[in-house]
Amino acid sequence: MALSIRHLLGLDGVSREDITLILDTADSFFEVLSREIPVVPTLRGKTIVNLFYEGSTRTRISFELAEKRLSASPVSFSVSTSSVSKGETLRDTIRNIEAMKIDMVVVRHDSAGVPYFLTQCTNAVIVNAGDGLHEHPTQALLDMLTIRQKIGRLEGLKVAIVGDIFHSRVARSNAWGMKTMGMNVVLCGPHTLLPQHPESLGVPVTDNLEEALDGADVVMLLRLQLERQSSGTFPSIREYRERFGLDLERLSALSKNVLIMHPGPINRGIELASNVADGPNSVILEQVTNGVAVRMAVLYLLGGGEND
Ligand code: CP
Repeated sequence: MALSIRHLLGLDGVSREDITLILDTADSFFEVLSREIPVVPTLRGKTIVNLFYEGSTRTRISFELAEKRLSASPVSFSVSTSSVSKGETLRDTIRNIEAMKIDMVVVRHDSAGVPYFLTQCTNAVIVNAGDGLHEHPTQALLDMLTIRQKIGRLEGLKVAIVGDIFHSRVARSNAWGMKTMGMNVVLCGPHTLLPQHPESLGVPVTDNLEEALDGADVVMLLRLQLERQSSGTFPSIREYRERFGLDLERLSALSKNVLIMHPGPINRGIELASNVADGPNSVILEQVTNGVAVRMAVLYLLGGGEND
């Protein structure tokens, strides 16, 4: 089977068959990753540019590792050491990079829609590594892979995504992707940090934490994006923690097998207490591990690979 999409711009509109194919392919790459030399020649000869206009630890490193595990030739681009700092436009940047014969671009940008824009000015395959407040599709895929590994299925599970929903591209990609996979997602946060048009996401939103957590199989905490807040979105960090933070006391009221997830980086002691982030229900580092296999699967399939 092959993917029906040429680029991965988001999970909105991506079919259940395509998501399942990516997750199944990622599963098959764990065998490769467990080898003494975890490398396959699948993308030998392909050049992949990692175009990161925004900071990243997990996404950037895991894409680079995935590219190396697939024997591609990765090229990393950082704004501060490029001609972007001299005022070069995004269109000129990508057209000049393409002139050097590249195959794929992995892009992170603080503006929503940049991955789509790149599809209009280059023939390279584009993979969205996070665009503004829009989508972060590979994060949602690795989240679903982690849940499927731990629980054995996705269909019918209740997932509470709690925190700064408004600024979260992770929440948006998960809402669309998980809904497609038959999961029951509820988004929860302070009223001022909920989406202005929740109907576009097709999942319920609430500012009632107890209602969101009731019966949840998975609780995903989101980082309070302090750098993106305008004033007055919530009264204080202390009040936010008391109303929406997950600590041991709140955890004890949940199912004993509940999965605790966070895309990182964590504001320890704000949305998530350290003893919960590092406790037995947490799968946060497994999410990070799974990021490499998921990104291998995405690059392999978009690079023309198939999986039976
Ligand atoms: N989850 C995530 O996108 O983390 P980074 O910003 O470190 O890539």
